[in-house]
Amino acid sequence: MKEPKQMSVSAIENGTVIDHVPAKNLFKVIQILGLDKIDNQITFGTNLESKKLGRKSIIKISGLFFQDEDINRIALVAPDAKLNIIRDYEVVEKKVVEVPDSITGIAKCMNPKCITNYETVTTRFKVMSKKNVSLKCHYCEKITNQENMHII
Ligand code: CTP
Ligand code: ZN
Repeated sequence: MKEPKQMSVSAIENGTVIDHVPAKNLFKVIQILGLDKIDNQITFGTNLESKKLGRKSIIKISGLFFQDEDINRIALVAPDAKLNIIRDYEVVEKKVVEVPDSITGIAKCMNPKCITNYETVTTRFKVMSKKNVSLKCHYCEKITNQENMHII
């Protein structure tokens, strides 16, 4: 018998649903998007089953629609995230996130001698590769890649 399709987190009327966030990065996404600082209604589910990710999270933000450049900031921690734009309970648009050309903050420079690691200077990187993400530091020019990337 086929299981009925049920929503683990209830539907929203208007807003943005961010699906396919790796469960381990849910709170990083919340932090990057500043969701802890807004008054909108937010519901989320975590450790939900996903064929692709193992365990995924889903975030539903009522009454909020993001600019692409803002949402793309989560690409480092949720590269497979799918955005669903909801209006009047209907999914009116689906989007995927894209790694931006440059990144401010979010990641730490892997060079311990870099100024960003001993003074309060926000990190800045040029994205050298979007697939296996590699970042070139604006200050010390060292490359930080996926293996040695730490999210601030
Ligand atoms: N959703 C919601 N509120 C609505 C409509 C949809 O919260 N009023 C959520 C659903 O729970 C789902 C996502 O938006 O997580 C996408 O909805 P839909 O396209 O209907 O689901 P799927 O076909 O499962 O989407 P996909 O396979 O593209 O992930
Ligand atoms: Zn550096």
